[in-house]
Amino acid sequence: MTVPPADRTTADPGLTPPQGCPHAATGVGGVTRLHGPAAETDPMGLYEKLRAAHGPVAPVLLDGDVRAWLVLGYHENRDVASRSTQFSRDPRTWHGWNSGEIDATTSPLVPMIGWRPDCVCADGEEHQRLRGAVTAGLNQFDQRGIRRHITRFAHQLVDGFCERGNAELVGQFTEHLPMLVLTHLLGMPDEYGPKLVHAARDLFKGTETSLASNAYVLETLEQLVTTKRALPGQDVASVLMAHPAGLTDEEVQHHLRLILLAGYETTANLMSNVLRMVVTDPRFRGSLAGGQMTLPEAVEQVLWDEPPLMVCPGRWATGDTSLGGQEIKAGDMLLLGLAAGNVDQAVRPDPSTRVHHNRAHLSFSAGAHECPGQDIGRVIADTGIDILLTRLPDISLAVPEEELSWRSSTWSRHLTALPVRFAPRAPAGHDVPAPLPAPPPPSSGVQIAPPWPLPEPGSTPGAGNRTTWRARLRRLLRRG
Ligand code: HEM
Repeated sequence: MTVPPADRTTADPGLTPPQGCPHAATGVGGVTRLHGPAAETDPMGLYEKLRAAHGPVAPVLLDGDVRAWLVLGYHENRDVASRSTQFSRDPRTWHGWNSGEIDATTSPLVPMIGWRPDCVCADGEEHQRLRGAVTAGLNQFDQRGIRRHITRFAHQLVDGFCERGNAELVGQFTEHLPMLVLTHLLGMPDEYGPKLVHAARDLFKGTETSLASNAYVLETLEQLVTTKRALPGQDVASVLMAHPAGLTDEEVQHHLRLILLAGYETTANLMSNVLRMVVTDPRFRGSLAGGQMTLPEAVEQVLWDEPPLMVCPGRWATGDTSLGGQEIKAGDMLLLGLAAGNVDQAVRPDPSTRVHHNRAHLSFSAGAHECPGQDIGRVIADTGIDILLTRLPDISLAVPEEELSWRSSTWSRHLTALPVRFAPRAPAGHDVPAPLPAPPPPSSGVQIAPPWPLPEPGSTPGAGNRTTWRARLRRLLRRG
């Protein structure tokens, strides 16, 4: 990587670091950090400062002051995502593995930028082989079939809190619905969702426990592969195993991880962002109620304005090249700045103008790796929110808007809670689907223990404790 010129953002007193402070907004050479308080409080503001200082491609530092280029321009993002021979998706292309820039055994970046045997980390024919199996697994479900499951799970979740007249929609709805749907599509019994919710969230935060959470997710999926070898069904896991691409068990396990993580956090964030707009922005709600905007269009508007994945890791330059006025060296790491690209003046001269009819945003990326699960993500969000608003049409925010807060990382930002109130209503008679979430020990991340016993030969996996956990959860929800 070329040594970047001193970052002009240091001229801003708000970004000037105290000497040697690891939490400062800038690191070595005055380069802006894409982690820490400044980046987490106002990521969009930070992208604009970077754009003003460097143009469409800016040097940044990741956790541990690992160097990368953040692509901010709309067209530059499309360019990098589409030119796979110039910008590889294989992380082993990165020079940082050998230069000592990162400790691969401890860095919280590894779950996001490390190599794994999955289609994300492959280019060309190998990518096509692996992605073909993934799309076959996802395309086996028609939209109507998926919608039926989403409807059932969404009603069950609403039944869990509708009698109380208040709810916290992130913890009780948006974090659960996508995991319930995805674990079901993958072939897991419903009750595996809650622990995976915690592990997936933790993994994305890139904290010191994210390695343990990553190991937990892998362990869980390894168990699923073993189970499905013995007892195949109509699910993604079984299709991956039987696909002519000939995936090994390890490849199957990693693709299940990929689908779970790529689909979960993003869809949960999207739902939270849409619901926040509904309860805080009267114009948004008015447009929905008055028919000027449909719910799918509202989802599209939010995909433009608040992409669930703000920064997408990563691409690695296969040779020296120039991009957006910067000299990129072979092996340099580039990050797709999806959120920054979506508000680039080149495509949105006035960001306040509605663009809900237009699907050209970058939120699902572009090129060969463009999200193959986007229709599933959209249908979970559309259907889930539709059911919630139909069941509780008088829903309103229960706290002043200024009290809403976000948890952010380099990659994404999500609402921590969305407390709402509504007139209490009787449940519609659907059962509550999830077991009690078991919080992991605070210091060690998520416990790496199999989340369910391996089935007895011939038994239905996960059927065992259903009555007990449902009864416990119902009691807890009533008490709360
Ligand atoms: C609103 C929801 C979603 C958003 C915003 C989203 C966004 C993305 C993005 C930005 C990428 C990276 C592409 C790249 O590296 O250039 C991606 C990849 C991927 N997504 Fe999604 N995604 C969503 C939902 C889903 C769902 C529900 C699934 C599965 C059911 C899924 C499966 C995948 C897979 C397998 C990949 C890797 C594709 C490849 O490397 O060829 N995503 N997604």
